[in-house]
Amino acid sequence: MDKMILCWLECVNCQAKYEIDEIRYSCDCGGTLDAKRDLSKIDGAQLKKTWEDRWGMKRGPLSSGVWRYKELIFDLPEEQLVTRYEGNTRLYEAGKAGEYAGLKNLLLKHEGENPTGSFKDRGMTCGTTAAKFYHASTVACASTGNTSASMASYAAIAGMKSVIFIPEGKIAYGKLAQALAFNGITLQIEGNFDDAMQLVQEVCSELNIYLLNSINPFRIEGQKAIGFEVLQQLDWQVPDWFVIPGGNLGNNSALSKGLQELYELGIINKIPRIAVIQAAGANPLYTMWKNHTEYKPVLDPDTIATAIKIGNPISWEKSLRGLEWSNGVVEEVTEQEIMDAKAMVDASGIGAEPASCCTVAGAKKLVEAGIIGSDEQVVGILTGNILKDPDAVVGYHKDELGSMGIKGTFANAPQLINPSVAAVRAAIGK
Ligand code: F0G
Repeated sequence: MDKMILCWLECVNCQAKYEIDEIRYSCDCGGTLDAKRDLSKIDGAQLKKTWEDRWGMKRGPLSSGVWRYKELIFDLPEEQLVTRYEGNTRLYEAGKAGEYAGLKNLLLKHEGENPTGSFKDRGMTCGTTAAKFYHASTVACASTGNTSASMASYAAIAGMKSVIFIPEGKIAYGKLAQALAFNGITLQIEGNFDDAMQLVQEVCSELNIYLLNSINPFRIEGQKAIGFEVLQQLDWQVPDWFVIPGGNLGNNSALSKGLQELYELGIINKIPRIAVIQAAGANPLYTMWKNHTEYKPVLDPDTIATAIKIGNPISWEKSLRGLEWSNGVVEEVTEQEIMDAKAMVDASGIGAEPASCCTVAGAKKLVEAGIIGSDEQVVGILTGNILKDPDAVVGYHKDELGSMGIKGTFANAPQLINPSVAAVRAAIGK
């Protein structure tokens, strides 16, 4: 490997540096680590040209929407990459969802169109490539569902064993099904995601298993490609805002890190603002940011957006750093706001899982508060596929979520009719 391109891991807190020859997820001081490269050795204009030349490649690892950008991801020879040709996801005009949010220029980047149905595939292609680089035979993660679905798939591709720690009770059915189908050893933990996250870190260090949560700096490197790809789709014209849901807070950290690198390389010449949206029942970043208080975990997080039901997010420091750099904001959204926004994303024909729709719910709130202008160009990230959580969809449309305090405001309930033309006419209004 060319050590000039990616040569060290660096602590977010104390800037201690570590060689990448050794497996490490955190600094001796306890801080999280960034993968760093010497950007002064990279010619930004040349790099942009290389990426443009790769656009539309038909086959091979560099046709992936992550590895197209490999110089800023993990610059290994192609044969070492573990890939499902992820990325290359669509950027939609938001239609009805845009009107609902009060935005004239809302685009939705649908990361649910990745191979396993979530943005995690971008992190996982890089994470499992790192696992292979370190000759790991077993990988593990704690997950609210999507990370585990993705890891199980990529581990299967790479011929590795995967061990999954999920919180007991609710993880969305589509995600559990994928973990089992891709042959992940699936362990349900008595406790919530934060307990599972704690346990998996202990297990990985004691049992010499490679950890693939977003505390792993290579996961973050892969996820930077979401922002790279949006910008390339926009011909490198920088939007005013990116709006993105926040759970364990890796994805927004990746977005800001990648954008910052593009800015430093002169590939973009404007800094977009980043809005991170949390569910009100799992909102430690929002509370801290809003009240200018110290970081404090939420002890009993709860939300219908189970993907982001996280009280003690691992990447909160990286997230804050990105918010500072981008003059960003944090917003929280209620259960009702999430599900109503989801109904609009779904009815616009695009569709996404509940956590993703925090994006549109949060954008709407920020427009109403006058923080995002209705004419501004906004890119919202939809993080997961609509099919991940059919229970939430059907529950809303049948108006059966009352016990969670959620009304089916825009419900489209199935109707039971007798088999006659007259009954059909009455039902469809003709
Ligand atoms: N949206 C979806 C659909 C997710 O699955 C997640 C995280 C997020 C948003 C939040 O991203 O954690 O980087 O802030 N899901 C993780 C998992 C935690 O285990 O699948 P984040």
